[in-house]
Amino acid sequence: MDDVAVGPLDLASRVDDALAVQALAFGLTDEEIAVRRQIVLRHLTLPGVRALGATTADDRLVGFVYGMPNDRAHWWSTVVEPYLRRRGHDGWLDDSFVIVELHVLPAYQGVGIGRRLITEITDPVPQPRSILSALDLDSPARRFYRGLGYRDLAHPVHFPSARTPYTVMGATLPLRRR
Ligand SMILES: CC(C)(COP(=O)(O)OP(=O)(O)OC[C@H]1O[C@@H](n2cnc3c(N)ncnc32)[C@H](O)[C@@H]1OP(=O)(O)O)[C@@H](O)C(=O)NCCC(=O)NCCS
Repeated sequence: MDDVAVGPLDLASRVDDALAVQALAFGLTDEEIAVRRQIVLRHLTLPGVRALGATTADDRLVGFVYGMPNDRAHWWSTVVEPYLRRRGHDGWLDDSFVIVELHVLPAYQGVGIGRRLITEITDPVPQPRSILSALDLDSPARRFYRGLGYRDLAHPVHFPSARTPYTVMGATLPLRRR
């Protein structure tokens, strides 16, 4: 995987490539892809949004991450706020950088690309911490986030559109190094 470079991603022009990565890594139906496409394009208009891609020498996208400073008025924040508040953690919604999506193609997982994407996107942000939601399972993704310093803030968290519950996780920045 030496030929994989991590760098800024023009997500607006590569949204279909990114969703293809997400569909293979995370599993998305065609209908979900269409919905996500609109959400991603709307997110790209928000202040402070950042996106990084992992690309091969022939410019194939094999992983990506994007996120933005949290805003309590954003839909995601309004859904998770009562769960965090009940546990005394809603202060995490202020001055926090949200990881919205992070996905690496299965054939490229486990070789450090996800770690590079999430540390390189969070390292330069001015916010002192980062939050995200991950499936509420003892999954590889949960172990991956724990290794970077993310801890569980609230679970199970139910998003209106989702079939399965999520966990909200938060980490202070910079993320933990190996
Ligand atoms: C979760 C995901 C983004 C991680 O990216 P990745 O490139 O595979 O992870 P890395 O190779 O950078 O691993 C970084 C660290 O996490 C650990 N890790 C990764 N996969 C792991 C697993 N299956 N079990 C335990 N630890 C794991 C690695 O051991 C590594 O630790 P180290 O740096 O101390 O050695 C990627 O596997 C993925 O896209 N999964 C499917 C989609 C998904 O679940 N996305 C997250 C949605 S919330």
